[in-house]
Amino acid sequence: MCGIVGYIGPRDATPIILNGLKRLEYRGYDSAGLAVLQAGKIEVRRDAGKLSRLTELVQETPVSGSPGIGHTRWATHGAPNARNAHPHLGSTKRVVVVHNGIVENFLELRDELTAEGVKFSSETDTETIVHLVEHHIASGLDLTEAARRTFLQIQGAHGIVLLSADEPDKIVCARIGNAGGVVIGLGEGENFIASDIPAILEHTRRVIFLESRQMAVVTRDTVQVETLDGMAIQPQVHSVAWDAVSAEKGEYRHFMQKEIHEQVRSLTDTLAGRVDFNAGRIRLPELNLTPGLARKIEKIYLTACGTAAYAGMVGKILIEKIARIPCALEIGSEFRYSDPIIDENTIVLAISQSGETADTLAAMEEGRKKGTRLWSIVNAIGSQAMRIADGYISMQTGPEIGVASTKAFTAPLVDLYMLAVLLADLRGGIDEKTRRALVADLRLIPALAGKVLSRDAEIEKIAYTLKDIRDCLYLGRGINMPIAYEGALKLKEISYIHAEGYPAGEMKHGPIALIDENMPVVCLAPKDPWHEKMISQIQQAKARGGMVIAVATEGDELVASLADHVLWVPETPWMLSPVVTVIPLQMLAYHIAAIRGLDVDQPRNLAKSVTVE
Ligand code: M6R
Repeated sequence: MCGIVGYIGPRDATPIILNGLKRLEYRGYDSAGLAVLQAGKIEVRRDAGKLSRLTELVQETPVSGSPGIGHTRWATHGAPNARNAHPHLGSTKRVVVVHNGIVENFLELRDELTAEGVKFSSETDTETIVHLVEHHIASGLDLTEAARRTFLQIQGAHGIVLLSADEPDKIVCARIGNAGGVVIGLGEGENFIASDIPAILEHTRRVIFLESRQMAVVTRDTVQVETLDGMAIQPQVHSVAWDAVSAEKGEYRHFMQKEIHEQVRSLTDTLAGRVDFNAGRIRLPELNLTPGLARKIEKIYLTACGTAAYAGMVGKILIEKIARIPCALEIGSEFRYSDPIIDENTIVLAISQSGETADTLAAMEEGRKKGTRLWSIVNAIGSQAMRIADGYISMQTGPEIGVASTKAFTAPLVDLYMLAVLLADLRGGIDEKTRRALVADLRLIPALAGKVLSRDAEIEKIAYTLKDIRDCLYLGRGINMPIAYEGALKLKEISYIHAEGYPAGEMKHGPIALIDENMPVVCLAPKDPWHEKMISQIQQAKARGGMVIAVATEGDELVASLADHVLWVPETPWMLSPVVTVIPLQMLAYHIAAIRGLDVDQPRNLAKSVTVE
């Protein structure tokens, strides 16, 4: 769960690496470093803390040259200090590595190397990689072969980039398993390497994705891809549609704020090319879904982590309601331990913004092992979850940088709704009038989201009254129950306020004991089929002295008369209401965290893609 950038070409690698790391800082921000080949010597600059510290360090003691590699870290082995920051040099100081992943057999390898007299200068597992490479070079191999030998020795999942002062014309990189991607960006007389596309978007949109157990030797003019066993690969060159500007903060204070406000556009893009409003039909061509297959499906397992899992919960309700196919939602980290009952008539549908979440990928692997068909809903183009699926839906939201997921939550809600309609249509399980009405409702969504966003100032005012709370309960029912979970997750992850999402109907079975004047309660009470039940929930919370913040439909005087604060949303067809009700909760969480002066985009202990189990 770290960010990696590499450059080889005629330009100075240092600013290219620093800029690239800036765009990857969301992947990890405990420490950062770079290594550049300057006058035949590898110069390393690295320190604990955020990238700004590395930038200062480079200003204090400049370094320039090419090739170069850089890294921003989310610590797994060893504390986040300067000693453990990447890059790691070997004992000869002629080879250097950056790494994403965990060397699972590192204790064993370190003991073997120590017995040979190797001195370790960090507590990281990564350092074993560079010492092993040096060991193989000492036995007569060149960098490529020494790296290959090392890649075959280490266990676990990895993205690795290496360079050697003695072979300055190349960078060697590899991807092993699902520790995150390795992307090679193709330039003119220069090439780039990164763990994630945004790092290199300003230089090129032509990219090669390494598959698991592939390595590449990258020079200024060539990219040679092979399996770890030495079989040459003709890699596919992908053209990435995202542009560099969409990965910039622009006029906004934080990426999260920008991404919340981008939702009118991202929801419009989500519909683009998929909805035929005249015919009242949905097209999802990358899913490879035929009427025959649609009719055969007996069960769909939705699997995902965090915010994406809450989207999956809404998806379960939608698919069951519209397409009448039984669904189950299983958290990615539990899927493979639950011994799921699946066969060739079951679909495993993974949802992931990054497409690189280790637990979600492990769930997909479990599905594959059991012979099921794999689908995914993914944002990051070319990511593992997209590539290993038999069919996919691309979220079409553009890069999401803020660690707290926002636009990559509302897009899959719409994708799942479209999927449900398409499945119902292909199975012949929906009459034309209903189908047309469901499809027509989609047209409303971007504008409805825009109406909520226009209430930003009101929501910020409410956030001021809540800025010092210590706990918060979020309650919802039916299709808005997952939104209670998601609202609470948004608040806790960026403001560090303890927040719990709960099914409102479960309150009376215990949690109601928590409610007093110190416990604000956010109640999702839009005009949906559970509206009356939520009204009685609000009354119960008020009766116990709780402060109620209600999400309510514009014009709902009853809720207004009961609640202390109202987050207004426009009237929305109930099956699409989560897309609209979640937005004020994203805005509320954002404003509370920003008012508290917290680092909204890079909350403590978190990273954007969780590529470790
Ligand atoms: O990239 P993914 O969608 O697979 O990520 C899943 C979770 O790690 C992610 O949604 C996480 O919960 C976010 N920090 C939520 O805002």
